[in-house]
Amino acid sequence: MNSPTGTVRPAAVIVLAAGEGTRMKSSTPKVLHRIGGRTLVGHAIAAARATGPDHLAVVVRHERDLVAAHVAEVDPKAVIADQDEVKGTGRAAECALEVLPKELEGTVLVTYGDVPLLAADTLHQLVEHHTTSGSAVTVITANLADPTGYGRIIRGGDDAVEGIVEHKDATPEQLAITEINSGIYAFDSDVLRSALAEVTTDNAQGEKYLTDVLAIARAAGRRVSAHLIDDLWQTEGVNDRVQLARLGKELNRRICEKWMREGVTIVDPDTTWVDADVTIGRDATILPGTQLLGPTVVGANATVGPDTTLDGTEVGEGAEVKRTEALLAVIGAGATVGPFSYLRPGTVLGAKGKIGGFVETKNARIGDGAKVPHLTYCGDATIGEGANIGAGTIFANYDGVAKHHTTVGRHSFVGSDSVLIAPVNIADGAYVGAGSAVTGDVDPGQIAVARGQQRNIDGWVARKRAGTKTAAAAEAAERHTPDAGEADQS
Ligand code: UD1
Ligand code: CA
Repeated sequence: MNSPTGTVRPAAVIVLAAGEGTRMKSSTPKVLHRIGGRTLVGHAIAAARATGPDHLAVVVRHERDLVAAHVAEVDPKAVIADQDEVKGTGRAAECALEVLPKELEGTVLVTYGDVPLLAADTLHQLVEHHTTSGSAVTVITANLADPTGYGRIIRGGDDAVEGIVEHKDATPEQLAITEINSGIYAFDSDVLRSALAEVTTDNAQGEKYLTDVLAIARAAGRRVSAHLIDDLWQTEGVNDRVQLARLGKELNRRICEKWMREGVTIVDPDTTWVDADVTIGRDATILPGTQLLGPTVVGANATVGPDTTLDGTEVGEGAEVKRTEALLAVIGAGATVGPFSYLRPGTVLGAKGKIGGFVETKNARIGDGAKVPHLTYCGDATIGEGANIGAGTIFANYDGVAKHHTTVGRHSFVGSDSVLIAPVNIADGAYVGAGSAVTGDVDPGQIAVARGQQRNIDGWVARKRAGTKTAAAAEAAERHTPDAGEADQS
C-alpha cells in the first residue's frame, strides 16, 4: 500500500512487550521506565506509528494492566494483545495476529518494546528493502564484536538467509557467527500466519520462537532477506539500569545533535538534557546545565540557562531564562526570568515581563511589561500590564482553609515588603505604600498605606543603650564631628 508520499506503508506493526525484565530489579515494568521523557514502549510506539500502519498492536503480559493503560494513553488507537501462558516471541506475535483483522494483507512489522533507539527511518528502509526485494521475511541484522546471547543469522552458499539459530541452541561453529538477529522484522502477513502455525516449542528454552518462521518460509521456497545496519545503538535493548542510562545518554546526544543541525546553539551538549518531545526555535541558545523536559517549547532567539530546568514550559521568542526551575509555565516573548526563580504551574508571564531573583509564582497571570523583580511569592494572582511589584511583596493567598485571588491593575505600583491578603483588588493606576498589609480593595488613583504610623523618641539611645558604640556614634553625630574610632584622617 502506498502513502501519499510514495513510501510503502505496513499493514500492521506488532510491538512485543510481554517480557518480564527481571534484571531491572524494579516494581515498575521494564517498558515503562523512561529515557528522553518517554517510556521505552513509548519510543517503540512512536517509531512504529511513524511508518503509517493501518493497525498497531502491543503484546502484553507482565504487569498487563499497567502497561495496557500506558499504551492507551500514548496511542489510543493501538490495540492490546494479551499473550497467554505459552512462552516465546513466536507466541507473542501469534497472540497479536489474533486481535488484528483476519483479512489483514501485506507487510507486518515486528518490533520490541524495550529497544528505544530504533528510528522510524530505519523501519521505513526495512519496509522498502522488504518490498523491493520481494521477500517473505526481512530481518534487521547487525555485526557485533560480542554476539553472546543473540540469535545468529545463518546464511547459505548464495549469501541468502537460511534461518536464525538461538545462542542456547547453537553449535560451536554457529556461535562463531557475528551477524546477529536484532529481533526487528518485516513479514508477509500470510507467511507469518501460516508459518507460526507450524512453529513448535521443541528447543533449549521450550519457547515458541518467532525466529523459526524464517527457516519455515525458506523451506517453502520463499525469499528471506537480511537488512544489515551499522548503527548498533538502534538494535540495543534495555535489560538493566546500566543500559538504561547508556541508551538515555546516547538518545540525548542524538536529540542535541538534531537541534544543533536545525540552528540551535547548545554550548555544552554533555550537560544539556533535551527530551524527545521538546521543540527549539532557530538561533536559540541553550547554556550548560540545562534540562528541557516534556513538551517544552523554546522560541527562536531565546536564551535558556545556565542551570535551568523547564518542564512542559513555553518560552517566547527572544526571552531570557537564567538559573530557573519552571513547570507548566508560559514565558512571553522578550521576557526575562531569573536568576533563581521558581515558576509553578499556571504561571503566565506576558511579553517583555520580568520575574526576577528569588521569586516564586503559581497560577499567576502577569501582564505584558509587568515586573516582579525581587524576592516575592506571587500565587493566585492577576497582574495587569506594566504593573510593578516591589521587592519582598507577598501575595498571601491561603487563609489556612481556602486559596483566594489577588488582582493588581494596569500600571499599578505595589511598594516593597507589602503583604496583599487575598481576596483583594488593587485597581488600575493605584499605589500601595511600602510595608503595607493590604486587606481591603484599592480604587483607581488611590494610594493605600496600611502600616503603623512612625514615632521617633528623642534621647532613647543615650538612656537605654548608654556606653555602647551606638550611643557614641549618636553623640558624635550630634556634635557634627566624626567618631574617633571610625575616621581615619589622612
Ligand atoms: C530474541 C530473539 C533473538 C534475538 C534477540 C534480540 C527469539 C526466539 N529470539 O531473543 O534471536 O537476537 O531477541 O534481542 O525471538 N517477548 C514477548 N513475549 C515473550 C518473550 C519475549 O513479548 O514470550 C518480548 C520481550 O518483551 C522483548 C522481546 O520480545 O521485548 C525480546 O525478548 P527477549 O527475551 O529479550 O529476547 P530473546 O528471546 O532472548
Ligand atoms: Ca528469552
